[in-house]
Amino acid sequence: MNSIKKKLIDKTATLGVVGLGYVGLPLAVEKAKAGFKTIGFDVQESKVEMVNAGKNYIGDVVNEDLEEIVKSGLLSATTDFAQVASAECVCIAVPTPLDTYQQPDISYVKASAESIVPYMHKDMLIVLESTTYPGTTEELLKPILEKSGLKCGVDFHLAFSPERVDPGNLIYKTKNTPKVVGGITPECTDVAAAMYEAILEAPIHRVSSPAVAEMEKILENTYRNVNIGLVNELAILSNKMGINFWEVVDAAKSKPYGFQAFYPGPGLGGHCIPLDPYYLSWKAREYGFHTSMIESSMMVNDRMPEYCAERSSKILNRFKKAMNGARILILGVAYKQDIDDYRESPALRVIEELEKEGAEVVYYDPFVSEYREHGVVKKGESELTAELIESADLVIVTTAHTNVDYNFVQKYAKAIFDTKNAMKQIELRENIELL
Ligand SMILES: NC(=O)c1ccc[n+]([C@@H]2O[C@H](COP(=O)([O-])OP(=O)(O)OC[C@H]3O[C@@H](n4cnc5c(N)ncnc54)[C@H](O)[C@@H]3O)[C@@H](O)[C@H]2O)c1
Repeated sequence: MNSIKKKLIDKTATLGVVGLGYVGLPLAVEKAKAGFKTIGFDVQESKVEMVNAGKNYIGDVVNEDLEEIVKSGLLSATTDFAQVASAECVCIAVPTPLDTYQQPDISYVKASAESIVPYMHKDMLIVLESTTYPGTTEELLKPILEKSGLKCGVDFHLAFSPERVDPGNLIYKTKNTPKVVGGITPECTDVAAAMYEAILEAPIHRVSSPAVAEMEKILENTYRNVNIGLVNELAILSNKMGINFWEVVDAAKSKPYGFQAFYPGPGLGGHCIPLDPYYLSWKAREYGFHTSMIESSMMVNDRMPEYCAERSSKILNRFKKAMNGARILILGVAYKQDIDDYRESPALRVIEELEKEGAEVVYYDPFVSEYREHGVVKKGESELTAELIESADLVIVTTAHTNVDYNFVQKYAKAIFDTKNAMKQIELRENIELL
């Protein structure tokens, strides 16, 4: 048996994770919890220090788990890539954002690979987990790693395995979410699958190449993006037609097959759904191909914050109040419920639109006490009091956090624009308007 597979089975392999963020830290924790000596690598000294002190900073990681594995010596973190030399397997989970021209910014993947190169050794396994366009592992990562003098598929193993973590999901976590794995060679796939089999309690789905695995991940996220675009467009139309679109989706959901419910909202948020499809659109251009479905759903989704500001203006108008000078309370700036991540959050775009029109905007979010945008820090209200709600001409629900007392909000608000149907259980609805 190949030596690395043997070390994975008897748990003597050392496993590395590059990038200790929303994806990387839970992954490193699972590796250590499975009994492997695990090293986390990051360029941010502060994260490395926190991990080494056993202090958690990611919602999906259990504080006590992190504390225990650090104390027992199974998990450590470092900014020193020389420690790659002692790892048999390294997973890369660094950011893959877009640049200002909405094109893939692959610089983090390149930089992390270049940091690994000097310390690569024979037989090691490297897996890219960052979401990216089809072709990245083979066309971009492999040549960088081969600068080590080692040959991919002969001297070392390389694979792509998309990360599917859904922050805040109470059922599916890193440990029990099925994993897709595609290696450069069948043996690369095999070794990568063996690593995940050793740490996860989920089926491993093998595919024939990294490109299939890369495309598969983009399909998942594009599927969500396009369907959200569809419901957002139909929600705008339904509002014009005087139809409650939320009721429409609930009715469609009664069909036991052939329909999956998606809901409208103030726009797309997070590090994945709004960004990943653009990775594919960009790559498609190399083939003279236009990803028209992606483009049209983006056109609808990207306009939602502005649409929400326009609807807010109409609501204020009914109270003979102009947007200019109105005081607006935003409920929720995180991009989705019950998490603290506000990256690409549509709530921030809504705030921007409202402020552009002269509104005075305050926000309350039980998960995000302050946020930084364009170098400016905006602090949230520390408590959701009756006075705070009463002081607003309009309350806009932009994130459906479940620990907000919506009965209390309904009782004291003059007017509410609920863009998430977060107040669906509330019977008294005369001051509530739905997206
Ligand atoms: N967050 C999610 O819900 C999610 C879900 C599925 C897939 N993904 C994908 O996973 C990847 C990582 O996303 P994330 O949300 O964990 O990002 P993140 O920003 O939370 O974490 C990335 C970490 O990588 C570190 N880093 C950056 N450059 C580095 C380098 N050269 N060497 C070492 N560390 C470096 C950063 O300091 C940061 O701690 C992205 O491609 C993303 O699209 C994210």
